[in-house]
Amino acid sequence: MEKIEPLIPGPKIEARVQELGREISSDYKGLQLILVSILKGSFLFLADLTRAIDVPHEIDFLSVSSYGTSTHSSGVVRLLKDLGTNIEGRDVLVVEDIVDTGLTWQYIRNNLFTRNPLSLRIVTLLDKRGRRLVDVPVDYVGFVIPDRFVVGYGLDYMERYRNLPYIGALDDNSLQGSGKENHFKN
Ligand code: PRP
Repeated sequence: MEKIEPLIPGPKIEARVQELGREISSDYKGLQLILVSILKGSFLFLADLTRAIDVPHEIDFLSVSSYGTSTHSSGVVRLLKDLGTNIEGRDVLVVEDIVDTGLTWQYIRNNLFTRNPLSLRIVTLLDKRGRRLVDVPVDYVGFVIPDRFVVGYGLDYMERYRNLPYIGALDDNSLQGSGKENHFKN
């Protein structure tokens, strides 16, 4: 069993999501907002954020996988499930649980831009900006976090811990034993 150190308690996440909801509601007043949730990690953030936004909006889902069940970046992004919505002329706000190297967001951004949205931004709950490999703009950030492998509130380690109601950091020793000591990834 891995050791998990609490990093961001549930009530703190809840308060920050409310703040983000208010900011987004004010920025998107009167616009054609669509939230695009990137599966799987952002499912809980999306569920709370959509209820914190009080302007009309749609939601849709995009499923990509950058790392599979590994803890390190392969740099390869695969599109597993596409949007059901035509986003041409729409104000698209991508919802992510975490931006780490930025490779996934860069891929999604380039892909969605080809569909001619009116605007395209991202809201991420977590920003591990110390590990960025590409220079992509990140518009709304919940929390900037240190270079730790984080789980909970949608984020997994080997598909576990997504259901934790808080964000925790996996103890490095838990990962070392599995031979994944380099480039801890989310
Ligand atoms: C995570 C996360 C982002 C991506 C960020 O997804 O949800 O999509 O990694 O990392 P990057 O900035 O280094 O590209 P993951 O591939 O783990 O899939 P999941 O959301 O289904 O767990």
